[in-house]
Amino acid sequence: NKGKYEHYMQKEIHEQPESLTTTMRGRLIRGGSCKAKSVLLGGLKDHLRTIRRSRRIVFIGCGTSYNAALAARPILEELSGIIVIMEIASDLVDRQGPIYREDTTVFVSQSGETADTLQALEYALENGALCVGITNTVGSAIARHTHCRIHINAGCEIGVASTKAYTSQIVVMAMLALAIGDDTISSQGRREAIIDGLFDLPNKVKEVLKLDEEMKDLAKLLIAEQSLLVFGRGYNYATALEGALKVKEVSLMHSEGILAGEMKHGPLALVDETLPIVVIATRDACFSKQQSVIQQLHARKGRLIVMCSKGDAASVSVGGSCRTVEVPVVEDCLQPVINIVPLQLLAYHLTVLRGYNVDQPRNLAKSVTTQ
Ligand code: M6R
Repeated sequence: NKGKYEHYMQKEIHEQPESLTTTMRGRLIRGGSCKAKSVLLGGLKDHLRTIRRSRRIVFIGCGTSYNAALAARPILEELSGIIVIMEIASDLVDRQGPIYREDTTVFVSQSGETADTLQALEYALENGALCVGITNTVGSAIARHTHCRIHINAGCEIGVASTKAYTSQIVVMAMLALAIGDDTISSQGRREAIIDGLFDLPNKVKEVLKLDEEMKDLAKLLIAEQSLLVFGRGYNYATALEGALKVKEVSLMHSEGILAGEMKHGPLALVDETLPIVVIATRDACFSKQQSVIQQLHARKGRLIVMCSKGDAASVSVGGSCRTVEVPVVEDCLQPVINIVPLQLLAYHLTVLRGYNVDQPRNLAKSVTTQ
């Protein structure tokens, strides 16, 4: 049931304050006078000690699920101190890449039925790794065959383009990082700040959803373009990949997510006064580097749309010459949850304006059960 919305993708984008609340329900402990704020992931509690002792954590997934894991990687590395490796499921299987008994492998999948991810799971089981499932479908193949699991609890997602499952996956993996790092006193302050940020996240998502009309206007400007680049780095490299995936998947416009640190190693050659480029430059440890990227793109007459933190438009728009999209500020590791929303809205409006099927894009299936 689409309720007041015209399309499932639109409904699912706007539902994110509620889906995130459901994902976190019962899992965040507020703490009190003598108890620290913490996270409770019931499905993992018997395995946390093994996970903390593992040699590596290997994230495995496809498409949007892979991107969600990529967004969570830095905070997992920071809070666990464990090496975190990223694997696209099909590539791991193609290479028969090394997986060891001392590894914790984490399988991320909205449907829990993706053929490539399932095949990678069989491979990891054969190699004796601990297998953790993060899925949105209770009773799915990945949920059944992993040793332990966390349910995403984002509610049923119908649009082929994953939106609310993506933001809930990031939150689940941030909670995973908090749970693994829970025995480290030195990072307690950081963990508590993230937990506070999680409590407030649904409100911040409500705020960023107010950009709907602004993103529709931007879509009108971009409707006839051939291509759109999205530059990000750090926590928001994943946002660049996921934003570009949303745009290409539903609006059928070529789009590419680019790691900003790679700009001079090839992509800069594409920049001219016609190609639109979204640069994600919200406040975090990479902010000054992104300011310098903006200046360099501007010097080559790049047509820039800069996503920045609220109040930062003047400091990123090179004398008012770039279009800006201001988003609310949250804890750095949660910022990808906020930053993807305007790009989801842009992809949605571009698609509707271009007259394509937004819920069932050409040639794609919601769940890819064949290889
Ligand atoms: O169900 P899964 O999360 O395993 O699906 C993986 C991809 O097929 C999926 O995320 C795909 O990339 C989305 N349609 C993108 O919106």
